[in-house]
Amino acid sequence: MAKAKVGVLISGRGSNMAALLYAAKHPSCPYEIVLVAANDPQAAGLTLATAEGVPTFAHSHKGMKRAEFDRIIDAQLRAAGAEYVALAGYMRLLSPEFVAGWENRMLNIHPSLLPKYKGLDTHQKALDAGDSHAGCSVHVVTSELDDGPVLAQTEVAILPGDTADSLAARILIAEHQLYSRTLADFVTRERQPEWLLARVRERALALPQADEVTSHGMPCFGIEKGKKFAYFSQDHHGDGIVSVLVKTTAPEEQAMLIDSDPDRYYRPAYFGDGWVGIRLDLGDTDWDQIEDRLRKSWREVAPRKLLGLMDVADEF
Ligand code: GRF
Repeated sequence: MAKAKVGVLISGRGSNMAALLYAAKHPSCPYEIVLVAANDPQAAGLTLATAEGVPTFAHSHKGMKRAEFDRIIDAQLRAAGAEYVALAGYMRLLSPEFVAGWENRMLNIHPSLLPKYKGLDTHQKALDAGDSHAGCSVHVVTSELDDGPVLAQTEVAILPGDTADSLAARILIAEHQLYSRTLADFVTRERQPEWLLARVRERALALPQADEVTSHGMPCFGIEKGKKFAYFSQDHHGDGIVSVLVKTTAPEEQAMLIDSDPDRYYRPAYFGDGWVGIRLDLGDTDWDQIEDRLRKSWREVAPRKLLGLMDVADEF
């Protein structure tokens, strides 16, 4: 399977970047680092990345507007083919445009147990508060500083006599372990059945009077006490794929869809011509389209009364 392409942004030492980069050298690592970029041409991490054969880019942000600078970094990331961004000690606030352009594709590591101690001086804050544990968090980046959904954390015990420096040094060891693992999970989650099922479930159950049951061992969505409109299929009869099965709206539609994209659509065994399978494990699923197909499938089985309600809702 192709490795996910990650761009790393740094401002200084770059030890987390190094940890990501060394983890990426293992053949089983699901990501590769395609660019290390810095807002400070003197950032020490750049030398290491260059020595390891990773392309680098550096540009000082001094005297530039935030959005203007971010556009330069964004262009470099995209030119390098990055699909994800990992912030690793990147000491710049990001413009909303940049954050929006990498929505759900950008992670950060922060040296505290978020939501505690956002911003700077996190180690001293944990000591001052008399906490028994400090730690680090990896989170998805949103427009609020250090605020996006936390993906993983490691607790680090505070020792008697710890100073901010001694604590920071120990947390850094934990950071290096945590970041690469979390990034690896993050870039592969779009192929993980549990994550795919959660996304299908969220969309299917949002439809009027939809419920979930298990049928033939498959999570299956239908109208309460009525017909089924979607099945979540995972390695069904050993086919090795993850997909959603939905009803087609016309007899020819199944053939037409398969014809248009034979890698994605297929005729589900034992379901007949009225259904089509859509693979979800190709890594490029268009979730708006899945939502649309679920809705169409729901319409195929919904009783008239419900359909009328849906039509009224659609007008708004
Ligand atoms: C790390 O403590 C990281 O959690 C924080 O900035 C520091 C960067 O260190 N965001 P390095 O440049 O990765 O060595």
